[in-house]
Amino acid sequence: MQFHPGAKPEFVRHVEARLSRLREELPAVLPSSPAAITLEIGCGHGHFLARYAEAHPERFCLGIDILNDRLERATKKRDRAGLKNLHFHKAEAVELLECLPAGLTLTEVFLLFPDPWPKKRHHKNRLVRPDFLAALAARMVPGGCFYFRTDHAEYFAAGREVLAGHPDWRIEPAAPWPFEEATVFQLKAPAYHSLVAGRSLA
Ligand SMILES: C[S@@+](CC[C@H](N)C(=O)[O-])C[C@H]1O[C@@H](n2cnc3c(N)ncnc32)[C@H](O)[C@@H]1O
Repeated sequence: MQFHPGAKPEFVRHVEARLSRLREELPAVLPSSPAAITLEIGCGHGHFLARYAEAHPERFCLGIDILNDRLERATKKRDRAGLKNLHFHKAEAVELLECLPAGLTLTEVFLLFPDPWPKKRHHKNRLVRPDFLAALAARMVPGGCFYFRTDHAEYFAAGREVLAGHPDWRIEPAAPWPFEEATVFQLKAPAYHSLVAGRSLA
């Protein structure tokens, strides 16, 4: 993890402790390597991934979020449905990629209605940005897919531009959206945009 040169030592210690906890926790809840995983970043209450995992019992699905109450509700859904191929975990997306056990790769990644960070000075917090997409690509199988959906038109346009110019990704305009199940934010959105990008083969 790269820290800002001015980062306070207690902040660095706090993040390092979190990373080391995540490194310990993940091998116990994920399939043993080598294995491929479907990841949903910012899974919220887990509506999408619970249905997805139910429809794809042969795939192992991991949903992450940073909010406990959302993960608790998602986990209850998983337990009620008795889904053994689904796990929800508290993790921040950048930190997850850093702590994912070696040998585990991602075949598909869903990012559905991410926080749009509309103010310009906050755009650096958006997940669809070059460094995050490079870190994501490094954990993906060649040809693996990134599915991005948002109701924020400006974030969508900016994300599409970043992906179009990124050496690790190519936009697949003809690729179908693989599975429909409305998320909480999707139900509230009057309209939204979707994009599929494939991990470059080179
Ligand atoms: C706008 S909500 C969308 C939730 C859900 N995908 C939906 O469509 O209903 C964004 C979610 O992403 C989570 N989140 C925000 N930043 C994150 C990050 N860096 N890593 C993981 N989850 C994050 C938030 O806690 C929140 O639950």
